[in-house]
Amino acid sequence: MRRSEPTSTREEGFLADYAPNDVAPPELHAGWSTVVDAPGAVIGVRSEVYEFAGASGAASSETLYADRATGALWRGRDLVTPEDLPALAAAVVRALATSGHTVDATDVPDAVRTRLLDDLTFTTAGDLVVRVGDGVLLAFSEGTVDAVVPARDADPFLTDAGRLVRAAFAQAGPTAPPSPVTPSSVTPSPAASAEPAAPAASGSAGAGEGGSVDCAQEKCVALTFDDGPGRDTSRLLDALAEVHAPATFLLGQNVERQPAVVARMAAEGHEIGNHTWDHKQLTKLPAAAQRREIERAAAAIEAAGARATLFRPPYGSRTATTDAVAGLPVVLWDVDTLDGKTRDTEATVAAALSGAKRGSIVLLHDIHAPTVAAVPRIVAGLRERGFTLVTVSQLLGEPRAGEVYSHRS
Ligand code: NI
Repeated sequence: MRRSEPTSTREEGFLADYAPNDVAPPELHAGWSTVVDAPGAVIGVRSEVYEFAGASGAASSETLYADRATGALWRGRDLVTPEDLPALAAAVVRALATSGHTVDATDVPDAVRTRLLDDLTFTTAGDLVVRVGDGVLLAFSEGTVDAVVPARDADPFLTDAGRLVRAAFAQAGPTAPPSPVTPSSVTPSPAASAEPAAPAASGSAGAGEGGSVDCAQEKCVALTFDDGPGRDTSRLLDALAEVHAPATFLLGQNVERQPAVVARMAAEGHEIGNHTWDHKQLTKLPAAAQRREIERAAAAIEAAGARATLFRPPYGSRTATTDAVAGLPVVLWDVDTLDGKTRDTEATVAAALSGAKRGSIVLLHDIHAPTVAAVPRIVAGLRERGFTLVTVSQLLGEPRAGEVYSHRS
């Protein structure tokens, strides 16, 4: 398959869209992977592109298929009959809703519908997998999501090419995509210090028990909330204040929407961390772009009257460059409640309580209402088990800039 044509087209389009400039030079990153390879029949590749244009950036991907038998070359849009695009978009919205994503689908514009055709693959069973790119249909904070349209729903939409591609997936199975860096692949760094813990961080006014706690002695655990503030964050702060439980919030561009809520977090003794401006996968960016992501979030947090004392990379995805650029302790987690996936209060409570150990850092997202509803029960359940709730810095003692922590060891 010719690889140069689509990339150069993309490059030309990119350069036409984004004029080079010195302040925030535009960047275009591209990579390829095989999605299916049926011997003698269809081979499919995915091109993944990350565009950064000054203030904003977006990941997108595209699938291309070639039929070895005929030499035909197809893009996603060739796999679905054009008249069926609105019906396909509706099926995608249903699939996203089923998997717990909030979609405003009252009026999906044509341009957005067309983008749903960029990256189409199939499961072995014939379900159509529509990769919904960053900011397409869903909020940027949701990242890229695969919507699975059941085989029987997808069947009427497919062209002959679509059926051949589906047959290739049924024959050869999908080729697994490379998995991103996950916290479990990161070696936790040793405890910051073997010395007796220093007095806990100052400034915890209203959050209660964290103020003078010594996590070298006590059984501590830290709840962390990413991606907010969201619609329910004020309610979460009310709930935390009621039970005097401190937490740690990892923030990005949403700070600008609700600066008063961020100021309240700081005033009530919660810890604030930097989660980058718009939640890009930092490992795809050069150091300068990573730095801009972090600095812009830091500036927004400061403008809201708070200060970030920690850094958490989106998706936990980072390299040594990221750690160096962050200039703050890099905080991952050892308990992933999967609250963004389940969107289920019961499941979130269960995951937090069963996962938490002495020294744990628990990952939650206050942008999801079921998570916010789970927090009072998580706090009560942890205390019943003898845990003391603290901020991440209290948990770690004196975390050091550039060091990576997933728990207190
Ligand atoms: Ni996040």
